[in-house]
Amino acid sequence: MQGRRQFLRNSLIGAGSLAFGRYSPFSFAADSSADSRIEVLMGEPLGTISPDIYGHFVENLSGVVYDGIWVGENSKVPNIKGIRKEIVDEMRKIKPAVVRFPGGCFADSYDWRDGIGPRERRPKRTNFWAEGEATGAPASHRYDPNEFGTNEFAEFCKLVGGQPYLAANIRSLPAVEFYRWVEYCNSPAGTTLAETRAAAGYPEPFNVRFWGVGNESWGCGGDFTAQEYAVEFRRYTAWVPRFGQQLAFIASGPNDDNWEWTRGFLEEIVRKGPRQVRSIYGLALHYYAWNLSRGRTKDWVQGKGDALKFDTIDWYELLRQGDVMESLINGHWQIMEEFDKEHHMKLIVDEWGPWYKPGGELTPTNQLEQIPTMRDAVFSGMTLDTFNRHPEKVAMANCAQLINCLNSLYLAHEDKFCVTPVGHVFAMYAAHQGGQAVRAVFNAPEVRYDRDGKPASFWGLKGSASVQGKTLVLTVVNPHATDAREAEIALRGGTAQSGSATTLAHADIHAHNTFEQRRTVAPQTRNIGASGSTLRYTFPAASVTKLTLGLG
Ligand code: AHR
Repeated sequence: MQGRRQFLRNSLIGAGSLAFGRYSPFSFAADSSADSRIEVLMGEPLGTISPDIYGHFVENLSGVVYDGIWVGENSKVPNIKGIRKEIVDEMRKIKPAVVRFPGGCFADSYDWRDGIGPRERRPKRTNFWAEGEATGAPASHRYDPNEFGTNEFAEFCKLVGGQPYLAANIRSLPAVEFYRWVEYCNSPAGTTLAETRAAAGYPEPFNVRFWGVGNESWGCGGDFTAQEYAVEFRRYTAWVPRFGQQLAFIASGPNDDNWEWTRGFLEEIVRKGPRQVRSIYGLALHYYAWNLSRGRTKDWVQGKGDALKFDTIDWYELLRQGDVMESLINGHWQIMEEFDKEHHMKLIVDEWGPWYKPGGELTPTNQLEQIPTMRDAVFSGMTLDTFNRHPEKVAMANCAQLINCLNSLYLAHEDKFCVTPVGHVFAMYAAHQGGQAVRAVFNAPEVRYDRDGKPASFWGLKGSASVQGKTLVLTVVNPHATDAREAEIALRGGTAQSGSATTLAHADIHAHNTFEQRRTVAPQTRNIGASGSTLRYTFPAASVTKLTLGLG
């Protein structure tokens, strides 16, 4: 049996219909003929939705950086200082609060010094992922040319408008190299490293706030026990130069439901005193939905499903797997509370998404590339809604990974580019960033299906709501593969004066975009002449919807 650790070694688009009524807020139930109800409780705030949960992940892995983002200054592909222009243009639309780099597993084999100084003098190194590269893959995927290093990443972040989040190597570099990387990024003029940065055209510090202390330290990041890692964490983070920045250290956290890692790590951290937890900004949880074997195996290779070829049961299986996220957030949070009653430390879900078996790449030589379908859009909407519902717990999340990889927002190869259904979901959900999350109660008939001869069920409708000024944003996922849901939506403590509905849906649950068919899946927005405190909306089958309501 192989685990991940060993491995590393019916409704058409726009069919949603909406009607508003001027009902009394309390006539809701009596008036309802809809099959579902959603109540938005404007008077029950849950907390501010951190823009950082709309974060991304860029690993130096196969086609993610080289071809995906970095095309080089002399490329015929339109670029800004070597960075693909189309990705910059698209990312600006989604307000990418934060971007994590350079890994992933790659991070704990990376020497940041290889990626600074004049580009033509940078060394070529064997990429961590080299052995998994396909025959015919570009040389840059196997042998890292280091053309995209710290300066280029900082430039990329500036162009797209996101903050950098750097993952430091603690498996194969000493602690002093961590301090020096911080110094290179954040020191004002006066140090040799600041001069090196200035010589490259960056006299001003990059002011990097977020620092990951290793990655998956239970696996590719060093095969540490939780206790060993805690000792390393304390050592690497003690007395790091600040340069006026409030550094936010992110500890390598649990995979999935590894409660022992969370508890073991924190037990060891506080052995040095209870205040030690205050040095941790966040604990990084990784969770991938990958096992579509319907309970037949836990094998990391055998258990995976196909990205494009799936039946309705696979559709629900993936969503069931993704839905586990909520219990992981609650479970790890509860353990964290045992050591940190006041919750100084937050959860950072810095890798999430579905992970399918190889074979579904748009560019066949891109290792780990998948073509996201409507299934992944619904999965992503559901996951972002989950984060929105826990604003006090989840401070950051990073979808794995931005381009040419797992749950990607974009696919690109040479001069070809497309936005995936996942990219469209991020564009729709950007409106939640910084909003005040309010409680929304969903009541809908469960989805019932046959799971290989046994009855199975899944919730009928779910989502999240947030308010910003005079605007309410309600996002809703309908997971039913074939049936639309008509819902009455009651605004408790507010009335709508105007509104719009944006829907991402397709008659075919396998629908996806390609370089040739770039808009097979695309959101549709319609204005709603809205007024009142109760409205009715039909959520198409297998859809993600955003309702934006102007409040009176
Ligand atoms: O996202 C791909 C890989 O998955 C990352 O490098 C690693 O952190 C995780 O196991």
